[in-house]
Amino acid sequence: MVKVRVPASTSNLGAGFDTFGLALQLYLTVEMAVAKDFQIEVVGTETGGIATDESNLIHLAAQEIYLKAGIPIPPLHIKLKNDIPLSRGLGSSGAATTAGLVCANQLAGQKLSEPEILSLANQFEGHPENAAAALFGGLTVNCVDGNDIISEKIAVDKDLQTVLLIPEITISTDEARTVLPKTVQHADAVHNVQRSALLCHAFLTRDYRNLRQAMQDRLHQPFRKQLIPGYDNFEKTAYENGALGVCISGSGSTILCFTLGDGTDLRDSLQERAQQLNLQAATIVAGIENEGVRFIAPPKLGSV
Ligand code: HSE
Repeated sequence: MVKVRVPASTSNLGAGFDTFGLALQLYLTVEMAVAKDFQIEVVGTETGGIATDESNLIHLAAQEIYLKAGIPIPPLHIKLKNDIPLSRGLGSSGAATTAGLVCANQLAGQKLSEPEILSLANQFEGHPENAAAALFGGLTVNCVDGNDIISEKIAVDKDLQTVLLIPEITISTDEARTVLPKTVQHADAVHNVQRSALLCHAFLTRDYRNLRQAMQDRLHQPFRKQLIPGYDNFEKTAYENGALGVCISGSGSTILCFTLGDGTDLRDSLQERAQQLNLQAATIVAGIENEGVRFIAPPKLGSV
């Protein structure tokens, strides 16, 4: 039996489309064991829509490990507790994929290294940043090089918090990628390169003066914000109430704000705005998680 806790994550952070992944203190916990019969049990605050048959994402990811190891997949008993909202841009799929890969790798005899697991997660999801944040925690800077992923971690200031406005509406990443243009202007590419470099600087130096500028993006947010009712209004409210930076979390629908305070005033102002706009949304303060996958049982052994 293996049991892991995997963090949620946000990705992109404005200008760093498909590059940055940041782990958050919301979790998926998965216990996996080889059993006589296949079974999936689901509990937690976010369970709606999680498959309990073999199409479950954790099971599909586990299958990849056995396929790679050349071992037929045994019947698995998977117990999961999920507190990560689904299809809201908070890395629920990245967490499930990571949990499935890591647990199965342990059960199959640790055939794959962490970089190989990340590469497999990237092939599975089509972008590596949520899985990287789930695996390593903190802010991950990710670069796809063919089948390899270069992933570097920046440990994040404990004082930095996120305030999340999580709309009731869901957005699938596939849907949010179809609204993106196929080509971009050179000037827009330069705009994003400059701002994603500023974002790295802010996290490395823990000086957040330029975070608002770093959140300005021309590659995805202008096209995606139309899918999020009230986006401009919420962004304005957040900046008026002290947010250091505001962006779409991943491919949405969550709107993410950074703050150095305890986040409660900012959270309340966003909730009030949601009520004024007559939009259903949850608002929460979520800390940043500097630890990636945690092995609860057995304790971490070897390279995974
Ligand atoms: N970076 C991807 C996107 C991942 O924005 O489409 C979403 O979690």
